[in-house]
Amino acid sequence: MPTTSSPRLSVRSLMSRGASPKGPEGQDVIEGLSRIPRSIPTYYLYDDHGSELFEQICAQPEYYPTRTERQILQRAAPEIATLTQMRSLVELGSGSASKTRLLLDSMVSHWEKQPIRYIPIDVSAKILERSAEDLLSSYPTLSIQGLVATYELALADLPPAPDRLVAFLGSTLGNIPPQECARFFTQVYAALAAGEHFLIGVDLQKDVDTLEAAYDDQMGISAAFNLNILNHLNRRYGGNFVSDHFRHFAPYNATTEQIEIYIVSDRAQTVTLKNLSLSLDLKPGEQILTEVSRKFQVPALRSQLQDVGFTTLEVWTDPQDWYAVLLLQKQ
Ligand SMILES: C[S@@+](CC[C@H](N)C(=O)[O-])C[C@H]1O[C@@H](n2cnc3c(N)ncnc32)[C@H](O)[C@@H]1O
Repeated sequence: MPTTSSPRLSVRSLMSRGASPKGPEGQDVIEGLSRIPRSIPTYYLYDDHGSELFEQICAQPEYYPTRTERQILQRAAPEIATLTQMRSLVELGSGSASKTRLLLDSMVSHWEKQPIRYIPIDVSAKILERSAEDLLSSYPTLSIQGLVATYELALADLPPAPDRLVAFLGSTLGNIPPQECARFFTQVYAALAAGEHFLIGVDLQKDVDTLEAAYDDQMGISAAFNLNILNHLNRRYGGNFVSDHFRHFAPYNATTEQIEIYIVSDRAQTVTLKNLSLSLDLKPGEQILTEVSRKFQVPALRSQLQDVGFTTLEVWTDPQDWYAVLLLQKQ
C-alpha cells in the first residue's frame, strides 16, 4: 500500500503484512517474552522517538562507530562508485541516511547528469519519509522508492532497478544474532543479480572499556533509547510497562564477542500486554534482552560471506582498526 507518491518519490509499506513472514503482528513479542531468558525483537527499539534517540546516540562522544564509518566512507566512496558502477543504491536500515550522502555524492560525480536511484528500507516510517524528502531536494537526478519494511520482507520484494548495490551501514549487521546471520546473507544474495554488490560496515573487536562506554553514554541517551522500547510496546500492544521500574544494562560478553543490551526489572512486578493477551511475572533483577551488538573480525566475516557466494573486492579500515567497510560482489 503506497504511503507517499510523487514522480520522483514513492514510499510503500509492507508492514501491514506483519513485521515478519513468521507469524501475525506481535507473535514475535509473545514468543520472546514468554521464553526464558526473555527477549524483545530489536526492531521494536525503532519507533519514531527511538529513531530520534538513535540519532542523538550517534552524536555522543562515546559512540565512535558513526564517526569512524563516516571517515572511512569519505575516503572510500569514490572508489566504491568506480569499482561497482552502481546506478541504484538499496539501503537496509537506512535511518537518517546521513552517511548515505557520501555514497550518493560519489554516484552523482560518477554518472554526472544521468539518473540514479535510491531504495531505502526501514521499519521506522517517519525517519524514512523525512530523510527521503531531504535527499530529493539535495540530488536533482535522484529518484527514490522507499520501503517501510523489515529486511526480510523487503529482500523478498525488492523493486527491480539497474546495477544495484545493497548497503548495510552502522554495524547494524551486529544486531543480527549469529545463528540468523547465514540466513540473512543468503537472503541478500538471493535478492541480487550476478555481478551486483553488497557493502557492509562493521564494528571490530577492541578494548572492553571503549566498547561498553559506547553503549552506556554519560548523557544517558543509550539508556533512554533502550527503555523507550517499553513505551513502544505499551502503545502498540496495550501494555502497562512502567519504564521507571526498569534499568539499562549493556555489558560486553567476551565469550560471544558481543555487547548484550538488557532492560532489568528492578522489582517483582506483573506486566500485561492486553492486545496480545500476555501477562508476565518478572522477578527482581530479571533481564530482558533487547539487542546484541556483535564485534567482528574481518577474516571470519569474509569467510562466512564467501560460503554464501560473495567475493570480497575491497576492505577499508580506519587507522586504529576499530571499524571496517567491506565491498562484496555476487558472482
Ligand atoms: C543501528 S541503526 C543504523 C542507521 C543508519 N544505517 C546508520 O548507519 O546510522 C539501524 C536502523 O535499522 C532500522 N531497523 C532495525 N531493525 C530493522 C529491521 N528488522 N528491518 C528493517 N529496518 C530495521 C532502524 O529503524 C534503524 O533506522
